[in-house]
Amino acid sequence: MDKKTLTIDYTEYGSIDELEPKYKELMTAAIDALKGSYAPYSKFNVGAAVRLRNGIVVKGANQENAAFPSGLCAERVAMFSAAARYPEESFDALALIAAQNGDLQPAPSYPCGACRQVMAQYETKFGKPIKILVGSKKKIQVFENVSALLPFVFTDI
Ligand code: THU
Repeated sequence: MDKKTLTIDYTEYGSIDELEPKYKELMTAAIDALKGSYAPYSKFNVGAAVRLRNGIVVKGANQENAAFPSGLCAERVAMFSAAARYPEESFDALALIAAQNGDLQPAPSYPCGACRQVMAQYETKFGKPIKILVGSKKKIQVFENVSALLPFVFTDI
């Protein structure tokens, strides 16, 4: 029997202004994407933005539906949109942020498991790490790749 330990490295920033300019721009895009959130049921708004390695930023926001499972998280709206529009372009980074009643959440809201699984597959598809930036009113946490958020990922390979 072997007891093993897993550690996760991430960087924490005290404000959006501490981020390097291209990631500050990406988090700003995720905040702007909140405008597109359609969340009449949960009233929980999530904005996301994917930065492709060619510099293009694609935004997404959560979309809900009366037939509950038919909705989709902001991250997947952004990733699927980016991948469908630019299928050959790898993802450099994804930023997300949540808000309620027009106020950014005081603490980071992390991506759900299903979104992590989708992130992981785009990382594998392109063979390049995707930086994940999880925002909040003040604190921003940056994970250098998806495996930091989803170790032991399911894969069919
Ligand atoms: N949601 C996201 O957009 N991203 C996540 O990672 C978790 C949850 C959305 C789904 C739903 O519209 C609302 O937040 C409440 O769960």
